[in-house]
Amino acid sequence: MARRPYIVGNWKMHGTRAMLSEARAIDRAAQRHMKVEVALAPPFTLIHPIHREAEQISVGAQDCHHADGGAHTGDISAAMVADAGAKFVILGHSERRTGHGESDALVRAKAAAALAAGLRIIMCCGESGETRESGRAVAFIKKQLKASLPAPADAPADLAERITVAYEPIWAIGTGTAATTADIGEMHGVIRQLLVELYGEEQGREVRIIYGGSVKPDNAAEIFAVPEVSGALVGGASLTADSFMGIALAAGEPSDH
Ligand code: PGA
Repeated sequence: MARRPYIVGNWKMHGTRAMLSEARAIDRAAQRHMKVEVALAPPFTLIHPIHREAEQISVGAQDCHHADGGAHTGDISAAMVADAGAKFVILGHSERRTGHGESDALVRAKAAAALAAGLRIIMCCGESGETRESGRAVAFIKKQLKASLPAPADAPADLAERITVAYEPIWAIGTGTAATTADIGEMHGVIRQLLVELYGEEQGREVRIIYGGSVKPDNAAEIFAVPEVSGALVGGASLTADSFMGIALAAGEPSDH
């Protein structure tokens, strides 16, 4: 059975309580688009307030620490975000890999902590413009993803439910220019093949692969029509209910799925 498209808003470091009205509007609109699974990853400070009010959308975090607890000033554990109401966590986003020096090994440790805390994970991968121009994008993504995802022996039994992969080419994030449908199709095919190699035919085929990088209401339909695209991770365009739900609407079009 085909899974529902998964549309996730990544608010990044945007949003104070003044944004709760936007989250409410997104939640209300999501109740009218039940064919699509809509989720929001606000800053940590808004996870609980949004979770408390939301009736339809699920709420997640944008990161978590790899340890269960301890002397880590300023950090937040997977159990803490789960306690605040998060159902999932975005891991390995390029802004954390570059801005906070997160290695593949650290991202993998965070994935283990998140899964142990009962969270679903959205594992991000993405190559830089330089890597793409040098023709090494496919090799880079395979290596990054293989080292960041749980090793097959450590993967949960229900991994297709618990793990989503997000392909987010760094050069397309926040630039206004998404990757071409040809580039997206190629890379999602490569990722699918890797997932099957890692986790086997049955589970590897079921893991959702979503695209991120300048997804907007006006390019969403063509992106969702690409084979192996199961949804989107949306940054800038998730900050208003209008643009975010424009994307969700495109994902729910029967002709696209
Ligand atoms: P963008 O960000 O939609 O603003 O390009 C996507 C992301 O970084 O998740």
